[in-house]
Order: sequence, then structure tokens, then C-alpha cells
Amino acid sequence: MAVTKAVRKKLGQFYTPPDLAELLVERTLADIASFGDWSGRDPHRPVRVLDPACGDGRLLERVRVELHMRGYTVEAVGCDVDADALAGIGHPSTRTIHANALEYDWGDERFDIVIGNPPYLSQMSSATTRGGSSRHGGGPYADAAAEFLALGVALAEPEGGRVSLVLPQSVLAARDAAPIRSRVDELADLAWSWWVADQRFFDANVNVCLLGFRLPSTRPAAPLEWTKVVTDVLGIPELDLDALDTDGTVGDRAELNANFRDEYYALVPAVGDHHDGPPLVTSGLIDPAHCRWGERSIKFNKQRFDRPRVDVSKLEGRFVEWANRKLVPKVLVANQTRIVEAVADVDGAWLPGVPVTTVVPTATDPDEIRRAVLEIEAVLCGPIAAAMCWHLGGGTGLSTSAIRLSPAVVAGVPWPAGDLSAAVAACRAGDVVAAARATLDAYGCDPSFADEMLTWWAPGLPSGVRPDDDEGADD
Ligand SMILES: C[S@@+](CC[C@H](N)C(=O)[O-])C[C@H]1O[C@@H](n2cnc3c(N)ncnc32)[C@H](O)[C@@H]1O
Repeated sequence: MAVTKAVRKKLGQFYTPPDLAELLVERTLADIASFGDWSGRDPHRPVRVLDPACGDGRLLERVRVELHMRGYTVEAVGCDVDADALAGIGHPSTRTIHANALEYDWGDERFDIVIGNPPYLSQMSSATTRGGSSRHGGGPYADAAAEFLALGVALAEPEGGRVSLVLPQSVLAARDAAPIRSRVDELADLAWSWWVADQRFFDANVNVCLLGFRLPSTRPAAPLEWTKVVTDVLGIPELDLDALDTDGTVGDRAELNANFRDEYYALVPAVGDHHDGPPLVTSGLIDPAHCRWGERSIKFNKQRFDRPRVDVSKLEGRFVEWANRKLVPKVLVANQTRIVEAVADVDGAWLPGVPVTTVVPTATDPDEIRRAVLEIEAVLCGPIAAAMCWHLGGGTGLSTSAIRLSPAVVAGVPWPAGDLSAAVAACRAGDVVAAARATLDAYGCDPSFADEMLTWWAPGLPSGVRPDDDEGADD
């Protein structure tokens, strides 16, 4: 039966293309062969393979063929919530389970290989949300795919089991998947990973990666091991935090938060080019240490504005209080960028758009607040902050060349122990490269590492800010 677009979306029914299926199976079996933990295995004991969201069973079929060629017998189990999908399974010996795999009672069943391309179901969408609950330890916004990862590791043989999944890259760093990552780290080692930048494999508009886990866990997971799946491929410089002179983090000195959908809709009737009120500063107006308000137009609610201001008298209810809270000295951070683009609002005159992360120093004395705002701007605009945000948030961007600069990610940027006055002065003078150099000095970086960082970071500067950009104008 033909599946409607709505059902497809609701069930995450985007089948794995053959080349990706082949790669997933090949990597899984290569890991088993190279690791040698199956070498003493009784050849007459069938290999138990599960795909908990099997669709037409294409992954099970591929594993079966490859294992047969290597002399193994196979017991394949496929589960799917959609009976029509299960009806497409060709091999008669596959045991099928028509159920929601996340709620099914699996009892004592354990599998040598759990393989799959589980449904990716955003919890931000009313069509696919499970309503905030999670049976597998994720937070309310953990994608269903992360729940399948937790399930897969729980169902794999504790000694020598393998879990190989096609997953959205957001599982690598999403906040609500963090408890699942910790649980997986307790039970398994990340054995291998694979992805290529900017290649979309499905109709689904998602960046994916293949992850292969091996049970049991034999070592503590290295810090930031999950995002390394992305940062290694992209060539993001590694940061040895012990080798930097640091003094806590940005989050120790400021409160960070971001506007959400509610603020967006509250702003819609209040924004206009000819209104009186604070300028609206959206992500597109934020360059490193420079606000483009009045220089560059923006699109907001499908309309173009040249000088958008917010008429605060048109805000309703709690949003008046929200605006007052935001009209304080702060740093605004653009979202979805390759390096961190942050700008200081020393006078507290701007209102942030959605999604912009707001960083408000916790200092109370006005002089200290001013100094803190300028220092936070300088630190965030530097290369260490950019690299750290990749290590903390890699995989969460809308494209593979961008990071989602959530409050949690920005808060995790290490604070340099050294003096920041040169960095602040350079930032204020509009020389972000000199400011970057000065922040590297404040972290005590040796010259060769500082050069490496600058060489990686500078090409990420937006046009008009880049030192070799003669036009000096925005795009
Ligand atoms: C991305 S498709 C993958 C299918 C197949 N494994 C493949 O690789 O081509 C995801 C499958 O998960 C099924 N599915 C969605 N939610 C499920 C659930 N809670 N339990 C079991 N299967 C589910 C869908 O019906 C769909 O067939």
C-alpha cells in the first residue's frame, strides 16, 4: 500500500539507500573481524541479529547474506510498528514483531548484532512528539533516534555485542540526549564512526552519521568523544584544556539564555521600520564585535525591514517584563555560524531576535558590568571559543558547517586566566584578528599553536570583517 507523506513523516519512514546499508553492514562486520572477540565462537550457534525498526528488512537481509558468506548461520528478528512495512520482508525465516519497539517487552532477549536506521522524530513537532515522556532515559526533547540507541545498547549481548545505527548527528551533542550518551558510555565503547560533510542520504532534511558500538565498555569515554565524530572530519583543532591558562568558564561569569518560539510570536505585531523603541537585533545582524543594525536589512516574519525597532507598548503580558529583562548590558551571540559571532550591547539598548543567545554578566557594579560585557565579547569572538563550541555542540547545526550556539554550548567556553585589556581594545577598534591574537595570549598559547588556531579560524570570519576583504561592506 502506498504510504502517505504524513504517515511517512510520523513514522520516520525513510528507507536506507543501498550504498549506505552496505557501508553500515561492512563496517560492522569489519569491526567484528578485526577485534577478534568472535574468533572462539561456536560456529553452530546462530548469530542473533535484530533491527528494531526494520521496515522492509533490508538491513537484516544484507547482514544475513554477508554472515552466510562468512560461514555463520543467522537468526534474524525484525520489529516495526507498521504492519504494511513488515509485509514487505522477503525472507521467510525472519521473525517479525509488530510492535512499538520502544514500548515492547523484550524480556531477556539479547542479540549479537543490533542494526538499524531508526526513525528520526523531532520532539519539537506536534506531528511526531511523544509528549515529553521517555522510557529510555532521554530528556523530553531527545529525538526518537536517541531512544532507539539506548534500546539497542540495552538489547545487545553484554559480552561482544555490536550496535550499528544510522543516526541524526544531533545525538552527538543534543542536551536531551546527554543521559543516553552517558548510559551508552557505561555499557559500550564507540568502536567506529562514519559520515561525510554535506551529503544528504534521505528525503529527510537531516545530517546523519553511522555509529558502531562494541560491548562491554572497556575504558572511560574520553571527554568530547561523541562530537569528535564530527570535529575530526571537519578538522576542528583539538583543545588540550590542561595546556591552556584558564579560569573557569563563561557560564561562571554570566547568565545565558535564548529566546524561543513564544518570544518570536510576541514580537510579530510589535516590529516595524518606523516604530519608536529598541532596535531588534537578529542573528543576521550580528558579526564578530560589530552590529549591522541599520547597515543591513533583515527578514522577519516573511517581511523585510531596514531598521527594525520594537514598539514595546505593543507587547502583551509577560513579554513586557521579558523586554525589560533583556534591555540590560549584554552580549548577543548569533546562532548557526561556523565561528562564534558575538557583539557587546554595552548600553543595554537592543532587543534580541529569535534565536539569539543572550549573555548577561552576573557582576553588579556598573563599571564591572561594562568591563565584563566587553571581555565576554572579546573572549567569544576568539578562536578558542569557536573551537570549544564545536567540541561541545558539533552535529547540532542545521548544516554541517555550522554550530547551534545554544546557551549551554556558549556557557562552556573556557575563560582565559590572562589579561584581556589588549583583546578588548582591539575588538572595540574593529580589529577582530588582533583581538583574537590577544585572547590566545591570554590563554597562554604558545606561538605555533596560536598560529594554528588563527589559520583555522580566520577563514570563518564573515565578509566585511575578514582582514583580506577590501570591500569592508556586508553581503
Ligand atoms: C528510517 S525507517 C528504516 C527502515 C529500515 N530499517 C531501513 O533501514 O531501511 C524507520 C522505520 O521505523 C519504523 N518505526 C517508527 N516508529 C517505530 C517504533 N516506535 N517501533 C518500531 N518501528 C518503528 C517505521 O515504520 C519505519 O519502517
